[in-house]
Amino acid sequence: MSLSVSVKNALPFADGSEIMSEIAAAHDTLLSGSGRGNDFLGWVRLPFDYDKEEFKRVKAAAKKIREQSDLLIVIGIGGSYLGARAAIEYISSPNYNMFRKDGTPMIVFAGNSISSDQAQEIIDLTSGMDFSVNVISKSGTTTEPAISFRIFKALCEQRYGAAAKDRIFATTDAARGALKTLADAAGYECFVIPDNVGGRFSVLTPVGLLPIAVAGIDIDSIMQGAADMASKLHVPGEDNPAWQYAAARNALYRKGYTTEIIAAYEPRFRYMGEWWKQLYGESEGKELKGIFPASVDLTADLHSMGQYIQQGLRNIFETVVGFESFRTNVTVPDGDKLDGLDFLVGRPLSEINDMAAKGTALAHVDGGVPNLSVTVEKADAYSFGELVYFFEFACGLSGYTLGVNPFDQPGVEAYKKNMFALIGKPGYEDMRKALLERL
Ligand code: PA5
Repeated sequence: MSLSVSVKNALPFADGSEIMSEIAAAHDTLLSGSGRGNDFLGWVRLPFDYDKEEFKRVKAAAKKIREQSDLLIVIGIGGSYLGARAAIEYISSPNYNMFRKDGTPMIVFAGNSISSDQAQEIIDLTSGMDFSVNVISKSGTTTEPAISFRIFKALCEQRYGAAAKDRIFATTDAARGALKTLADAAGYECFVIPDNVGGRFSVLTPVGLLPIAVAGIDIDSIMQGAADMASKLHVPGEDNPAWQYAAARNALYRKGYTTEIIAAYEPRFRYMGEWWKQLYGESEGKELKGIFPASVDLTADLHSMGQYIQQGLRNIFETVVGFESFRTNVTVPDGDKLDGLDFLVGRPLSEINDMAAKGTALAHVDGGVPNLSVTVEKADAYSFGELVYFFEFACGLSGYTLGVNPFDQPGVEAYKKNMFALIGKPGYEDMRKALLERL
């Protein structure tokens, strides 16, 4: 089965079919490249048009990293981080480092915070382990990864001397930026983030593909899943799953459902939720508009956030990502009768999980929470490609329907300016004075 969407449990609240003509217009705008932000539409045809020679280099670099390292440090933040982590957790395991295949290195993510503790932990981890570094930054000037790269570049040079250059891989702009200049001067192997692909749409470029390939994941299968999904979604029509999803969420938003919670009943989906939050939050949250994207891990969060979802403020709807089949088949064993669970003996956990999901969805609908569902065959490399492309394409449709430019992020600059002023960056002196008066 390919990816499917069900809006049945949202229909009592809002009917997406009423705004299909707007989704159709957004579809035309997106595919004709005639809308706002059209200089960032490189992701639309990426599953077909990606650079095949560079793809081969990604595989070769991944092999080299696997052969020479016990540890890969992936430095990046936001769109230069979340996709790779989401893929490794979703396709391999949230416990990848514990269960990784023979011959694949441990993978840790750095530069996604300015935390000293996080940096020190990774510094400690490198002792006694051969390591490589993949630094990922389109601009090359983002503070968090730039600080982190200083730390791990120095460590790499201390350990390996001149050979450090064979252990540092830079994923950045094709021609511009501080990282590109530095990488060229030092002789690092470079991979390109295309000009017309924004950070949060870049997981199917070397940004995501290199760390994912190092983890031993089949990146051909990811690209195939994305290409098959793109072929499907480029065809206009009310049965287009991206149309259905974009229409339902915009119809709900107009009825006051301003928060969307993405949920899954598999812990491996957790970082897909983080990736999805950035994709939708950064694409839609602007001009004082946009659905607030949140995520929960179920059933775990039914015991923490479940109360709010069931009975809190009624401005939320949920989108549940589910699977048709599973890799494993653990069943409930015979045991102490006192727990009252004898009726479950021999039943698969997947069946019980599915009943928990179905029961919860109906309880939430009864409690006033519209429910959308997105289902894929199973959690693997192919469905990762499908899901990535599905959510990206639906995001483009949804953003245009909302009336914003889904491909910029002007608001991200505000915190950076304040931070630069407060840490004393030259040129920010007046701003620093004004901010200090307010602290
Ligand atoms: O989606 C985006 O554009 C952002 O999340 C960026 O990816 C993030 O800020 C990192 O930027 P850069 O890759 O330039 O370091």
